[in-house]
Amino acid sequence: MRQVPRTNTAPIGIAGDGRVARHFIHYFTQLGLEFRTWSRRSGPANPLDAFSTCGIVLLLLRDHAIEDFVNAWPALRAKRLVHCSGSLRTAVAESAHPLMTFGERFYDVDLYRRIPFIVEAGATPFRCLLPELPNPSFAIPAEEKGYYHALCVMAGNFSTLLWARLFDQLEARFGIPAPAALPYLEQVTANLQSDGGRALTGPLVRGDSGTIAANLTALKGDPFQAVYAAFARAYA
Ligand SMILES: NC(=O)c1ccc[n+]([C@@H]2O[C@H](COP(=O)([O-])OP(=O)(O)OC[C@H]3O[C@@H](n4cnc5c(N)ncnc54)[C@H](OP(=O)(O)O)[C@@H]3O)[C@@H](O)[C@H]2O)c1
Repeated sequence: MRQVPRTNTAPIGIAGDGRVARHFIHYFTQLGLEFRTWSRRSGPANPLDAFSTCGIVLLLLRDHAIEDFVNAWPALRAKRLVHCSGSLRTAVAESAHPLMTFGERFYDVDLYRRIPFIVEAGATPFRCLLPELPNPSFAIPAEEKGYYHALCVMAGNFSTLLWARLFDQLEARFGIPAPAALPYLEQVTANLQSDGGRALTGPLVRGDSGTIAANLTALKGDPFQAVYAAFARAYA
């Protein structure tokens, strides 16, 4: 099938008012793109009223709500529907996963522009879905999405859990302000950026089994002891 880029300037529809929706609205505003929004809190009762002039609607809803939402409003299928979940595979919408975390604060437009969108191989290319966006994109086999997303969750979310644990325990147990650890976090990030997998230091990479055993003993009774042990096993 020939994939034709969308060349009209119909506004982009945005369903949902969560984190990703708020960031996309900020980004689209910076790019000067026209968009229409709908959410169940603030939109008209019928989302089609909000999206009547849109050619594409981004379904920025919780993963579990996406199929039910489209099934509840079947006339939406006349639009090009795109969800941004990294793991959901569904026939009701195409997918374009932004490889990024969307927190409470907005980012610089240059960062938004660099966010890669991951689409399914053989599906509509990203430049045809959202030709207005300058972002890079990559395609992966649809059946690999689950593995891809699990890697993203581990890298982004699990590392956040570990840093949050350090910040929390520094303050609660040792009375050390959490920002004291920021130079450590900054350098870990910088080393990863410059050296990739070779950035790892510490007892695992040194094969220092004595320190690993001592760390595990020190973590006795701590819910993260099992996490440390699992990392040590996975690394081995
Ligand atoms: N957050 C990230 O870092 C990130 C990164 C990449 C991709 N994504 C993907 O982006 C999508 C949106 O994620 P998010 O982080 O923005 O989620 P979120 O902050 O939890 O927002 C979810 C949105 O879905 C709405 N919603 C939930 N159930 C609904 C229903 N039954 N009918 C209508 N609206 C409903 C919520 O409305 P209420 O507030 O009224 O419940 C809210 O507007 C998801 O597919 C997610 O996997 C997220």
